[in-house]
Amino acid sequence: MRFSNKVCIVTGSARGLGKAMAERLASEGGIMVLADVDGEFLDETVKQFQIKGYQAEGYIIDLTNVSEIDQMIDYIAQKYGRIDVLVNNAGMQIRKWATEFPEEEFDFLMDLNLKAYFFATRAAARYFKKQGYGAVVCTSSGNSIRPASKRSPYAISKAAVNGLAQALGNELGRFGIRINAVAPGYVMTDMVKQGIKEGIIDIDAIMSVLPMKRLLEPSEIASAVAFLASSDASGINGQTLFVDAGWSANGLPESKDLE
Ligand SMILES: NC(=O)c1ccc[n+]([C@@H]2O[C@H](COP(=O)([O-])OP(=O)(O)OC[C@H]3O[C@@H](n4cnc5c(N)ncnc54)[C@H](O)[C@@H]3O)[C@@H](O)[C@H]2O)c1
Repeated sequence: MRFSNKVCIVTGSARGLGKAMAERLASEGGIMVLADVDGEFLDETVKQFQIKGYQAEGYIIDLTNVSEIDQMIDYIAQKYGRIDVLVNNAGMQIRKWATEFPEEEFDFLMDLNLKAYFFATRAAARYFKKQGYGAVVCTSSGNSIRPASKRSPYAISKAAVNGLAQALGNELGRFGIRINAVAPGYVMTDMVKQGIKEGIIDIDAIMSVLPMKRLLEPSEIASAVAFLASSDASGINGQTLFVDAGWSANGLPESKDLE
């Protein structure tokens, strides 16, 4: 029960990895705010949490709008009188060749995958600073250091998330604020299903470079997020933890004689 009476915000938590992260924090006593743009999925998820006896509320927000982020953080701080954990998780992939990538879609990806992480951290850190504590965990990706074709702006945004954890960890560490990132490998969420449907994600090709030869479960990403958000990680700041079935440890696809 590492999050008993702790107020925890998870963005992009109506489904996918964010939902698993929120569930893990809630199962350890967290008072949860689930923030997402998709009201329908959000309602359903909050209902599921409440049935399980978790304390949770949904907050509908478009994270590409910085003033909505500021309003949300102020609302939560005023309502609960504290904020303990912010998980910046909402993110999207747009899959196109760099030569065909539209400027508006590049800007949109950066707004959601990077700018929202910075400004949500900025807003929360104003409260964290007064409190003298606060933990931020950001969802990066294996693509941050192992980019794949047709995903270059996504990979760039995730490389910047690793940089964000390091730069803000450095600047804010002196106020008792820790900022880290978790970089997941492949997990079968809607985002990955869509990539398979588009013919861009090839599971066989992925298996050939994954030492553990399997996809990850959302709960395996969530447990790393909970660790970094908790006092178990009290000495860890500015780091990116790769939870990727060994992907980033691999050099080349297996040679045929190993099959
Ligand atoms: N699934 C994977 O294998 C994988 C691997 C590496 C990194 N990631 C990262 O994990 C995070 C979650 O991915 P996922 O696979 O769970 O995706 P998902 O598409 O299943 O869920 C993303 C959630 O973010 C919400 N969202 C999207 N735009 C939003 C906005 N403007 N404002 C508020 N909420 C918004 C969506 O409604 C959705 O609920 C992302 O940052 C993604 O880049 C995923």
